[in-house]
Amino acid sequence: MKVVIIIPTYNERENTDKMIDILADILPQIPDHQVEVLYVDDSSPDGTAQVIKSFQKHYKWLHLLEGNAKQGLGSAYARGMRYAMKDMHADYLMEFDADFQHPPQDIPRLIAEINHGYDYIIGSRYIAGGSIPAHWGGNRKLLSVGGNLFARFALLMPQIHDVTGGFRLSRVKGFMDRFDFSTLLSRQFAYKIHLLAYMVNAGAKVREVPFHFAARTSGDSKIMKNEMKETLRVIFLYQTKNPQVRRFFKFAVVGFVGYLVNAGTLQLFTVWKWGSVAVWGISTELAIISNFVWNNVWTFSDQKITGPGKLAYKFFQFNLTSMGGLLIQTVVGTLSDWLLHTTHYRQLVLAFAIVCLVLPYNYLMYTLVIWRQKKN
Ligand code: GDD
Ligand code: MN
Repeated sequence: MKVVIIIPTYNERENTDKMIDILADILPQIPDHQVEVLYVDDSSPDGTAQVIKSFQKHYKWLHLLEGNAKQGLGSAYARGMRYAMKDMHADYLMEFDADFQHPPQDIPRLIAEINHGYDYIIGSRYIAGGSIPAHWGGNRKLLSVGGNLFARFALLMPQIHDVTGGFRLSRVKGFMDRFDFSTLLSRQFAYKIHLLAYMVNAGAKVREVPFHFAARTSGDSKIMKNEMKETLRVIFLYQTKNPQVRRFFKFAVVGFVGYLVNAGTLQLFTVWKWGSVAVWGISTELAIISNFVWNNVWTFSDQKITGPGKLAYKFFQFNLTSMGGLLIQTVVGTLSDWLLHTTHYRQLVLAFAIVCLVLPYNYLMYTLVIWRQKKN
């Protein structure tokens, strides 16, 4: 396989000659694969590009893509990745920092995972054997760990331990060659979040490889002050387009409408002094009808149930699965009435049970039973 290590630089002169020397030692030792390096420089005023050019005479594997002005890390990678795929015919793209925070000695360990069939290999600071610099202050550590943890869950990818790191290897065929760079959500560091979400949701086989994220010893970090906002923006934009998230949101809205129908009709019947078990049953059934109709035409419109026979059968099934939800509520409600003495706590327990048990139960029933996705 041809692996292209993409190294974006902005004012990394001091790091660059050292890096190229070390890479010249490491690259020939990597078995099975042809590894080349592509520096993507944004006209660094310190003359980083000149350093690279002076080495190009000696090393055939060393490439340089120059740019006009500093446009941000995401733009640099977009440029570099397209070039590596089109002009260098890369099979894998590696993202790598110029400043030794990603130890070049770890490059072969990531590349070795290609042989095990992985599509996406992530250098990970947050699994056993990985780390961030021990001397970092409490605030910086908290920001790094907390930011990563938040992004992990906001992306609904708890299975991936390091989602904000910048040391990664991605397969081109079937993955990066299908990515439309004109849709890249950030020109800055937050581009990483988008590419990660893209790869994982495209079904990449993922492997995390631990590494020690080193401290920078020369030059300065180029990370922008607005990067946190930028990351939030990317996650928000990405997730509002994510079909799974949109579906869950619709499901929640429909459920809330169902609750309003239930509570509203119950209230009406009480005003009309109809109170009895039948009334409770009628208002519950009205809520069930509302849930069925709105989920069918909106939440699951892509699997819409049609035709009187199918509708009748599925509606019957829907009533049965809804009984399950009611049963959970009734059991938890009775138990809390029985065990707790203050109404306040009983209501809290019930609300908690609805969110943690009934909601997931209903969602699972809808997606796995009622509006089950047809296999293509
Ligand atoms: N061409 C180009 N243009 N290169 C850039 C630009 C740019 O606008 N901005 C940064 N770079 C280069 C730097 O020269 C360096 O080689 C690499 O991108 C990483 O930049 P740093 O400034 O060293 O980033 P960092 O150390 O703060 O952030 C690193 O760690 C983060 C996780 O904590 C990066 O690896 C991030 O990707 C990562 O999220
Ligand atoms: Mn750095």
